[in-house]
Amino acid sequence: MSQDRVYAALAKCPGEYLSGEELSRELGITRAAVWKAVEALRHQGYAIEARTGRGYCLVETQEKLERREITSYLGQDRPNWQVCGEVDSTNSLCKRLAMEGAPDGTAVIADCQSAGRGRRGRSFQSPAGMGIYFSILWRPEVPPQDLMSLPALGAVAACRAVEEVCGVCPEIKWPNDLVLHGKKLGGILTEMAMESESGLVEYVVLGIGINVCQHREDFEGEVADMASSLETELGEKVSRPRLAAALLHQMDALRREALCSPEKWLAEYRRCCLTLGAQVQLIAGERRSTAVALDVDETYGLVVRRSDGTVDTVRSGEVSVRGLYGYVPEKE
Ligand code: BTN
Repeated sequence: MSQDRVYAALAKCPGEYLSGEELSRELGITRAAVWKAVEALRHQGYAIEARTGRGYCLVETQEKLERREITSYLGQDRPNWQVCGEVDSTNSLCKRLAMEGAPDGTAVIADCQSAGRGRRGRSFQSPAGMGIYFSILWRPEVPPQDLMSLPALGAVAACRAVEEVCGVCPEIKWPNDLVLHGKKLGGILTEMAMESESGLVEYVVLGIGINVCQHREDFEGEVADMASSLETELGEKVSRPRLAAALLHQMDALRREALCSPEKWLAEYRRCCLTLGAQVQLIAGERRSTAVALDVDETYGLVVRRSDGTVDTVRSGEVSVRGLYGYVPEKE
């Protein structure tokens, strides 16, 4: 579609003028078609200035998290992904699509979630215009235990996407919180369904939420003291569509690579994991105990040394890290 191509050409150099002639040559369409596309884009709310003798210029405004903008960063076409303005939860939508037969690799990106969900039945604040809410559906024919490491691997892929776009790699709080400068940037929720006859996974949905543009006052309730956003921490603008495109790329890479080169991904996880070496509090129901995190094993379990000296591997439950999110454990 000419509009998408004209948008992509202008978006490559926002704030700069491109002449109608250059655009027509680059895109192989007439100057009249360029002008028609610009008019249509303006009607859709894009701020494009036109100056005689200079051409057209996309005025730098906050980019929308829409299909056209994300496509302009994707480079090549990718099937089976959709962008929603508002949805209850991208994970829930992906699960509904899975039940309707959507294929492996189907991805959903939303600008806003009315019922965003976090781990342990918590909600995930997902206001419009501020974050990225992303879910991807896979249909690997493996037993569920083969996917135990998926939430952790998803965190590595999300870190790679942030680093690609912002030049800074977040840390990971075991198992999969994304953390920057000691504040939570986002998290991951993985859900799966199993086929009872075969005992194999029917589908798995990996959902990622990243806070991008929020200011401190945008976070409500108990997360207000521990959450932050990329823009607040980095002090500069971050393009949500560019980050969404990077997430799509990295999730596709995860699907292709992780099962055949698990050591590479595990090494990257260990490098990013801020929990390693830290004093932690293990919370299992009502029970709390302190320990030191020693390692992350091949199945992404957290190896800890308890205060009585025993070494154990933790696979579930809540783990607080000393000094993070305001947690300071009592002296033993
Ligand atoms: C957590 O930190 O507890 C996990 C948060 C996961 C949030 C993402 S946003 C996209 C996807 N859809 C949801 O409803 N949740 C996940």
